[in-house]
Amino acid sequence: MLPPRPNAYRTAWAGSPRLEQAGDELRVAGWVHRRRDHGGLIFIDVRDRTGILQLVFRPEEAPAAHTRAHELRSEDVVAVSGELVRRADGAVNPALATGEVELNVAEVEILARAETPPFAVDDDSPVDETLRLRHRYLDLRRARMREGIELRHAVVTAIRAHLNELGFLEIETPILTRSTPEGARDFLVPSRLQPRSWYALPQSPQLFKQLLMLAGFERYYQIARCFRDEDLRADRQPEFTQLDMELAFVDEEDVIATTDAMLRDVLAVGGIDVVAPLERMTYDEAMLRYGSDRPDRRVGMEIHDLGPVFESSAFQVFSGAIGSGGVVRGFKAGGSFTRARFDELTEAAVALGAKGLVWAVVEEDGGWRSPVAKFLSDDEMHGAGRLLDARAGDTLFIVADRAEVAAPVLGSLRLRVADPPEGHDILWVTDFPMFEWNAGEGRYDPLHHPFTAPSGDLDSGPGGWRSRAYDVVFDGSEIGGGSIRINTPEVQRRVFDAIGLAPTEASERFGFLLDAFRYGAPPHGGIAFGLDRIVALLAGRDSIREVMAFPKTASGGDPLTGAPAPVDRAQLRELGL
Ligand code: AMO
Ligand code: AMP
Repeated sequence: MLPPRPNAYRTAWAGSPRLEQAGDELRVAGWVHRRRDHGGLIFIDVRDRTGILQLVFRPEEAPAAHTRAHELRSEDVVAVSGELVRRADGAVNPALATGEVELNVAEVEILARAETPPFAVDDDSPVDETLRLRHRYLDLRRARMREGIELRHAVVTAIRAHLNELGFLEIETPILTRSTPEGARDFLVPSRLQPRSWYALPQSPQLFKQLLMLAGFERYYQIARCFRDEDLRADRQPEFTQLDMELAFVDEEDVIATTDAMLRDVLAVGGIDVVAPLERMTYDEAMLRYGSDRPDRRVGMEIHDLGPVFESSAFQVFSGAIGSGGVVRGFKAGGSFTRARFDELTEAAVALGAKGLVWAVVEEDGGWRSPVAKFLSDDEMHGAGRLLDARAGDTLFIVADRAEVAAPVLGSLRLRVADPPEGHDILWVTDFPMFEWNAGEGRYDPLHHPFTAPSGDLDSGPGGWRSRAYDVVFDGSEIGGGSIRINTPEVQRRVFDAIGLAPTEASERFGFLLDAFRYGAPPHGGIAFGLDRIVALLAGRDSIREVMAFPKTASGGDPLTGAPAPVDRAQLRELGL
């Protein structure tokens, strides 16, 4: 940070003085971080955004300042001046950037007093999160929080630098708009001027960025706020930020290559070196080997198809599943498990939709200790062991079901029994199915959004269509996703048909986009990244709340402002509600 403009409060940052400046007269301002009384001497750490400087108050040299120092309490705001001096040998603090010096205070001015804070600001010990959120301005004073926010800024700066260099234009899109279909519920805002009409807050800038491509801007990005009314988790907030991008006259390779280079720059900000081009894996392979479309390859324990071994097994659970078009898949885990743990994992598998879980411990002779061993032949046990490359002492987990059930159940169990992984894993997942069957509603839902271009034979049933979508997965978390878009009204209509969106409804909701397609739509595609997720991963935080200045709680509330809150009757009347 550049030195401050000298004024009545400060001539230097608290975090900047070094030994070379010993002898200088300085004035610094900030918060009382910590205070220690040593007989006559009082030591106070003063903190500003840049760091901490130790102040010394000596009763014999500056009696007035020393008396005032007695009154100072944590988080009082002060400006102090004095001479920067070298610390005595043995008093040097190597943990502090300013640890070789201290300020011999001649004069202290108390700018504001602080009540005792509800939790300590000067350390990072755990504090109840609701309390932290209620006093977020205090929480943000803590070093760990400030570092997260600084990292976030550095990430955004790197993104902008990289994309600006490539000629991308940063363009804002409306917040008060119409529904954008990203699969979540909308937040709605009533209109006063048009009673009983509603704006929707954007779930993403998707439709506008496509219109910007139609408008000829070619390369767009935005650090965009998005709003989704969905159930919240550690990596989901009702309002969050995307790095949103779109390019015209491109195919998958262009978007992927552009993104690879940008991600390399961005992840480097967090000290993570990735090798571009990033590896890619198809959706089918990810589901088969990892049971997830966001595979974490750091956790070994790949899933294998055991079908060939159990096709004609006497054990009905296995052969029956295969006979009715399902699969038998499993993975091998190291380590040993107690009976109680097996029961717990079986319960988890059932809760995830499986009919059961077969576990087996491989014995010296290749046979199994397992509740189902008595139903299986030696050949079957040996054969499955070979497919899983199992050794004596390994534990096997096997599920027989439809592939749509077996894959995610095994994928989830795999993560459950894994040790905390080390290092990082980043890859593209490509070639998604276009739709997933929504049995409840009896229709196809788009796996991405309905503006994603389909690929493959469109004359086959929609269940078989693939999409030109791609996701970026980082350490098992989806950090970004995008696609090549549809750019003709005909294909767009076929997709709406497939998801059961009637032409009248389609034109009511997205008529403006369909109209726009009639005036020359370039081929285009793009991607959006969850900025909060990227920063949280780089900062090594479990929750995106840790890298957002003012996040919401799991129930969507803000304990600081009390939002959401009831409003006046008069306000509602004015809105015609
Ligand atoms: P998608 O819905 O996959 O794509 O969102 C892109 C990325 O945004 C992040 N994300 C979230 N982060 C925090 N809280 C949430 N509630 C939340 N929801 C999503 C994820 C996700 O990968 N318009 C398309 C992109 C495109 O096609 O270009 C879109 O929004 O990291
Ligand atoms: P059952 O024949 O229902 O008593 O099941 C015998 C064993 O097979 C139990 O350990 C079940 O948990 C397990 N099991 C049952 N159905 C499945 C399945 N579809 N996939 C894997 N294991 C199963």
